[in-house]
Amino acid sequence: MSAAPVLSNSFRIASETPADREEAEALVMAAFGPGRFAKTAERIRESARIAAAFVARENGRMIGSVRLWSITVDGLDALFLGPIAVAQDTRRGGIGADLVGACLGEAQARGVAGVLLVGDPPYFSRFGFQPAPDVRLPGPADPQRVMWLPITSAAPSGLALAA
Ligand SMILES: CC(C)(COP(=O)(O)OP(=O)(O)OC[C@H]1O[C@@H](n2cnc3c(N)ncnc32)[C@H](O)[C@@H]1OP(=O)(O)O)[C@@H](O)C(=O)NCCC(=O)NCCS
Repeated sequence: MSAAPVLSNSFRIASETPADREEAEALVMAAFGPGRFAKTAERIRESARIAAAFVARENGRMIGSVRLWSITVDGLDALFLGPIAVAQDTRRGGIGADLVGACLGEAQARGVAGVLLVGDPPYFSRFGFQPAPDVRLPGPADPQRVMWLPITSAAPSGLALAA
């Protein structure tokens, strides 16, 4: 594995503004390519509204982006996290972790039942995300990759839909 980048540690996380949107889109497209639009997660995003979004910047350059969407899981208010992307040359410097942390802070502040995502368990389990085998999405998804981070004790079960 290549060495972790040397960051000046001067990156800052802030709420995404309308002026950030184009740059954030470009960052996400560079990370995932156009194939992202075929994902089941996108079926939720295309009908959900953004609850919150955060960007990371270092010396003015956008180096990270994450979005949270308002959803319900069989009536439980929740947030759907994604896409999350960090610029390739600044990965492994904790920016992804800080972006996830901003999302979890937002979820706690809103008092939702939890945060749902479709992602790689080896990455997201470190934050407390667990497989959510009883949650269904509006399309095919590997059940191992459907993950939930509980904020309240309510157990998620049923169909995840735009709120
Ligand atoms: C996933 C992503 C956002 C992480 O951002 P980051 O700033 O590098 O994250 P952090 O610095 O907090 O964590 C880096 C650690 O996570 C690991 N990691 C990164 N992506 C991983 C993955 N998909 N699966 C397992 N581990 C992963 C790195 O190897 C690194 O491990 P180390 O600390 O032992 O070196 C970034 O790699 C990215 O943009 N990837 C492409 C887009 C993507 O796949 N997003 C969603 C993932 S499902």
